[in-house]
Amino acid sequence: MSDQPRNAETPVPDAFQGIRIAPSILSADFGRLGAQVAEVMDAGARVIHFDVMDGQFVPPITIGPLVLAGIADQVHEAGGVVDVHLMIENPDRQFEDFAKAGADSIIFHEEATPHAHRCCHAIRELGCLAGVAINPGTPVEAVSGLEGMVDEILVMTVNPGWGGQPFIETSPDKVRRMRSLAGEDVLIEVDGGIGTRTAGTMAESGATLMVAGSAIFGSADPARAYEEIHAAATGS
Ligand code: DX5
Ligand code: ZN
Repeated sequence: MSDQPRNAETPVPDAFQGIRIAPSILSADFGRLGAQVAEVMDAGARVIHFDVMDGQFVPPITIGPLVLAGIADQVHEAGGVVDVHLMIENPDRQFEDFAKAGADSIIFHEEATPHAHRCCHAIRELGCLAGVAINPGTPVEAVSGLEGMVDEILVMTVNPGWGGQPFIETSPDKVRRMRSLAGEDVLIEVDGGIGTRTAGTMAESGATLMVAGSAIFGSADPARAYEEIHAAATGS
């Protein structure tokens, strides 16, 4: 995070720009989390995706600011950023703690609050990129009132709550519609079921930030899995 509040003109950090594969530590081995983060960052990853679940918005409970604080310095020292995905009710109560713990972006779910506009403002005031996520059942138009307020839109390509679920095959069309609604200046992120088979189509559809959990940390060689998904997304 930066100490300065953000606004629509504040530049987006380089680590978020271009086609990026964001390893989700949800599928990592938490007994050696630092080593797992180092493996993917050594392979080139610059965005580490951090999934927070509260047992209310989604059934599972995962991790919070204490774990974030445990990895944030390592990620920043390696030139990376932490992308915090809040799958929680009352997200605005938690923004400050995550910002203080080292979040670079904070994404809340549109379905979790009637105050999406105010949430974006509050996140930017804390110096973080403001992100909003939508579930597979939520139409792209749900975020149309946030123009100029939001830095990052996450289009869920599975239902939130668990790693390792199958990719929802109608997602490319939804991402195309989101890109045309949101314009070119907003980061569009996809999350769920991303791997070598789906990353290329997602990039062609207009997503630039692609979260991959089980495809990376469920693999015997996370660094190599990261490189293969990156190659699939960039066509290189
Ligand atoms: C799921 C989380 C994802 C999860 C994706 O609700 O938001 O970030 O880690 O897992 P995969 O890549 O295995 O679908
Ligand atoms: Zn996520």
